Amino acid sequence: MKVSVTTLPLAELDVDLLMLPLAESGLGAVQGRLAGPVAEALKRAAGDFTAKPGSTVLFYPDGARCRRVALIGLGPKKEIDGDRLRAASGTGAELAEKTGASTAAILVPQCSLDSESIGQALVEGFMLASYKFLRYKTQVNGRVPDRLVVHAKTDEKAVRRGADRARVVAEATGTARDLVNTSPHHKTPRSLAKAVERLGRKHGFDVSVWDKSLIEDEKMGGLLAVNRGSPEPPVFIEMIWQPDSAARARPVVLVGKGIVFDTGGLSLKGTKDSMDHMKADMAGAAAVVGAMEAMARLSVPLYIIGLVPATDNRPGGNAYVPGDVLTMHSGKTVEVLNTDAEGRLILADALSYAKLYRPDLVIDLATLTGAQVVALGSEVAALMANDRAAEHATAMEAAGRRSGDLVHRMPMYSHYGDALKSDVADIKNVGGREAGSITAAKFLEHFVDYPWLHVDMAGPAFLKTEKPYRPKGGTGFGVRLLVDFLRGYAWPKYR
Ligand code: BES
Ligand code: MN
Ligand code: ZN
Repeated sequence: MKVSVTTLPLAELDVDLLMLPLAESGLGAVQGRLAGPVAEALKRAAGDFTAKPGSTVLFYPDGARCRRVALIGLGPKKEIDGDRLRAASGTGAELAEKTGASTAAILVPQCSLDSESIGQALVEGFMLASYKFLRYKTQVNGRVPDRLVVHAKTDEKAVRRGADRARVVAEATGTARDLVNTSPHHKTPRSLAKAVERLGRKHGFDVSVWDKSLIEDEKMGGLLAVNRGSPEPPVFIEMIWQPDSAARARPVVLVGKGIVFDTGGLSLKGTKDSMDHMKADMAGAAAVVGAMEAMARLSVPLYIIGLVPATDNRPGGNAYVPGDVLTMHSGKTVEVLNTDAEGRLILADALSYAKLYRPDLVIDLATLTGAQVVALGSEVAALMANDRAAEHATAMEAAGRRSGDLVHRMPMYSHYGDALKSDVADIKNVGGREAGSITAAKFLEHFVDYPWLHVDMAGPAFLKTEKPYRPKGGTGFGVRLLVDFLRGYAWPKYR
């Protein structure tokens, strides 16, 4: 999609759809800036407009430069935040699609946010809502808009900075969505690795892929055990973004759960509402890949490593079984009591391997537990931190509020770890029914010795019913969160 910023008078914009996001009592100000046919038609349409969030009025001014005009409600001015703006421009994108508009313009509304954030939110909302996954459609009806003009009355440069960044971030989010939405049999660990190599070449980050024999040499006992039931070998993907400008010598390491399909293994899942969307069990990996793409394209001056352990989890003849005791990469032993608690096993090996980098901070993202969905639903991920990362956790929550990828902090009191005591090994891989996402995090904590954040995004990674600017399927959750957080980490001033 082409995105530009203009200061031309509103009435001169030659587009299929002019979108006017307006706060309650915001009509007056815009009426003054419009003249001629649009102003005339607006007078007649205004009576139908409530400005409630999500409400719209569409009208067709006679003899104007623009073909259609949409009034889009933002609600009370003091309530307007980034997400309200993303939702409003997302609504505009839906209208554009419904009416077959291929070019659209959007007005920068008046609110308390800075111009750069407004530009970013408007473009993100529009592009994210226009996303379509068409790889398996043999027939495509209709078209999506391909050009967006952002109309800024003042502060054009700041609006453009936000809009340019939004385009990169929305495309990187699209990359993550594409990876999640890809059919399981097109998404073996090796083909996922190939896709990441392609993205690295295209966007300028380095990628190296370990095959099974290297994984065996590294003694990644968790990844190898989960892979045992699969006809496809595992891979371990390493991504590197190390610009000369990097302010710190030590990296931030991002780790993404790359279970390309989770059947549960021998502890088999039911199909409906459980196994049926487990192609999304690599959404953590997808978020890391999308974030690497965005970091490279935005030239963020930070040394960043991305790690993705990838395999599927299947009940093959050689599959690992409940009762198996594994020796992990770190040397710790784990008693497996449920083969469906596989994510923590592959993550543990990657987290343990990450120590080699002597990282400043490690952040893992994973569709780890059904308990996360029960606790927080499908719009908010769970955030856990060890003591050394307490400040980073606060910054991550703030990044969530700004970016719209919301995270909520969960407690990590030491007694939660008691649930993992094993009779035969150092720990077992399942806690119990209580506090399932916290005990999963407690499991991972055994494998870290650095400041560490854990994002359990089982709910928000994949939607069965659409939400504002997020169609059904993979959401790309985590990309916007990581980009916002890591930019703040690189430039503390920006926070
Ligand atoms: N991939 C699942 C978690 C999941 C559930 C992701 C729902 C997305 C939506 C994970 O591997 C899993 O199966 N977790 C088990 C752990 C349990 C056996 C301790 C779960 O949450 O049921
Ligand atoms: Mn599982
Ligand atoms: Zn899983």
